[in-house]
Amino acid sequence: MKINRILTIATSAFITLGAIAADDAQMNRFIDNLMSKMTLQEKIGQLNLPVTGDIITGSSVSGDVVGQIEKGKVGGLFNMKGVASIRSLQEIAVKKSRLGIPLIFGMDVIHGYETVFPIPFALSMTWDMDAIEQSARIAAIEATADGISLTFSPMVDVCREPRWGRMSEGSGEDPYLGSRIAEAMVRGYQGDDLTMPNTMMACVKHFALYGAPEAGRDYNTVDMSHVRMFNEYFPPYKAAADAGAGSFMTSFNTVDYIPATGNRWLLTHVLRDLWHFDGFVVTDYTAISEMINHGMGDLQQVSALALNAGTDMDMVADGFVGTLEKSLQEGKVTEEAINTACRRILEAKYKLGLFDDPYCYLDEQRGKTDIYTSEHRAEARRIATETFVLLENSDNLLPLKKQGTIALVGPLANTRANMPGTWSVAATSERYSTLLEAMQRAVGDKGRVLYAKGCNVCYDEELEKNSTMFGREMRDPRSADELRNEALQMAAQADVIVAAMGEPSEMSGEASSRSDIAILDAQKDLLTALKATGKPIVLLNFSGRATVMTWEKENFSTILNVWFGGSEAADAICDVVFGDVSPSGHLTASMPKNVGQVPIYYNHLNTGRPNPKWFTKYTSNYLDVDNEPLYPFGYGLSYSTFSYSPMALTDTAMTRNGSIKASIKVTNTGSREASEVVQLYIRDLVGSISRPVKELKDFARITLKPSETKTVTFTITADKLKFYNSELIYDCEPGEFDLMIGPNSCDVETRRFTLQ
Ligand code: BGC
Repeated sequence: MKINRILTIATSAFITLGAIAADDAQMNRFIDNLMSKMTLQEKIGQLNLPVTGDIITGSSVSGDVVGQIEKGKVGGLFNMKGVASIRSLQEIAVKKSRLGIPLIFGMDVIHGYETVFPIPFALSMTWDMDAIEQSARIAAIEATADGISLTFSPMVDVCREPRWGRMSEGSGEDPYLGSRIAEAMVRGYQGDDLTMPNTMMACVKHFALYGAPEAGRDYNTVDMSHVRMFNEYFPPYKAAADAGAGSFMTSFNTVDYIPATGNRWLLTHVLRDLWHFDGFVVTDYTAISEMINHGMGDLQQVSALALNAGTDMDMVADGFVGTLEKSLQEGKVTEEAINTACRRILEAKYKLGLFDDPYCYLDEQRGKTDIYTSEHRAEARRIATETFVLLENSDNLLPLKKQGTIALVGPLANTRANMPGTWSVAATSERYSTLLEAMQRAVGDKGRVLYAKGCNVCYDEELEKNSTMFGREMRDPRSADELRNEALQMAAQADVIVAAMGEPSEMSGEASSRSDIAILDAQKDLLTALKATGKPIVLLNFSGRATVMTWEKENFSTILNVWFGGSEAADAICDVVFGDVSPSGHLTASMPKNVGQVPIYYNHLNTGRPNPKWFTKYTSNYLDVDNEPLYPFGYGLSYSTFSYSPMALTDTAMTRNGSIKASIKVTNTGSREASEVVQLYIRDLVGSISRPVKELKDFARITLKPSETKTVTFTITADKLKFYNSELIYDCEPGEFDLMIGPNSCDVETRRFTLQ
């Protein structure tokens, strides 16, 4: 088969739908033949995905995996690391099970492998689709070199809920940007040819709406209108499906009061009938058995519900393998449904080339040459520099000079394991630098870098313990006074203080919701004491979500949000802090003034009583805070400044088959090369349903030398004006539209045009 594929590629000029159909026909014949030999138990076995390895995210662990593989009761395994151990289990499947069907090996390769890229939320801040695709490409090269052929990524859940810890794993609040990122990730992982040994299958998750849990509490209820689903939350999943993603993962939450894993409307009507997705659907970890707690019945009932809804593979719950046979006998599921699910799993294996060579991802040699290479690390470092968002620099304190005495202070300044960020399963943190090490390296003998921890993450030991799991503990046994005094003595000798503060990496991620997302008590006290020294302070804020930084903004003139930058984060931070690279990240989530404003997002609807900028009785506002975010979606400074020319429009009216071009000239008015993200928003002024006050519809990331000008041109076609109406019909409606261009969602120039 591989030879056939290579021939097909070599003659790619002749690739036609006919050739693809021929390929499919060949696959279908192969699978028909294989399935004709399979027993019912073996078919059900393919639907079973138990867990092995060290990384488990629920309370259940699978037992006797080897015995089950021999009996043909396992379709794949996940979160095992290393060619040798994966090969030993693949050999059992191939040599000891009756039909020798190879296993598929999955892993949560979320933001890189041993070369770790910034957490996905941070990556989204780059607005750089090439960089994001490249991060996924490198992740695929490394993971496949280590035996993995399926990654549980991209996570494309739109999120307006910063209390939810998993904001860290997604691309923020915007469906348009999230869609472009979803496509880039799928392209990066899967490449053009899944049978290549260095590409892997993507698994889009978590389908669907997982990013909108009530009160931000993980796994909690989700409830929203279908109009909102289709316009605001579904687009990135659809974009990933359209980009050819091979698999989808169901989410833990309910959708219309039915858990996603058992929701036929979602998994069959939307995903397959409307979007024509033809890959396989795997559940999230024990999501089938969790439907018992959701009140959907016992294990047999919920397993049948899942299969009938369109779930193909059961992750860890043992529901399919344990009950489907009985359900078939009792007429609760059909053989056809089991066959369909089995076929989809076998197709995935076929597409990955596993039937050709079950060991094609198990090349010991590649493991030695393709992982954590200097080229990959250089890319990770470059890309990390693009993720940092400069929130404040009013005194132009940044960039720092490599001279004098720098006091590096804070609980996150000297932590190695904490650098890569949450969900870095394959990380080898012992090889990564702490910020202190990188800073000492960067400054060399041109200056001095002093270090003091200054405080623990927070005063509450239990909270710190729960926020620094997985070997990322860092608590210092000394008293708060001792820690602070040491830092103050250090600061007294310094010309400038660099404070490395924020959340430790496991304070975001799965099951890491926070009800209060403001600065932690011990860190606030330390910063207050440092400020009292009168020394200039650069505040580096680590976080995995949008946090509340109102107090920081009031008290500090220099704030750089660095999120979690991956294995090369420490060097990348120094590249930006010392000015080798100008920061260029732009926020992909609005940052609230306080947690009471949540959910706060730029693309909201208007109310009948729109809010003025200050409190007014009987309008839509709060008594104690205004409606604006502290920092808006799209915001981010650099070490340079940019001026925008007035917008030029080719026309002020268009037909539905026509287009308008909107151009703007952007000039770098500062003295350094820097990148800017030019953003296009559109508002549909009158519609058959209420429409958002603005929606991102395009963007361009440009790099300009000092005094250089570039023209950015956006083309507006009917596609950019379409939305799902109350009948869920996707179309545009004639009328007036506002077109807005600017460096963030608040600072925009607006022009009006008409769709005839
Ligand atoms: C998470 C998924 C992950 C899975 C497998 C679950 O707990 O929600 O995102 O892919 O575990 O590790």
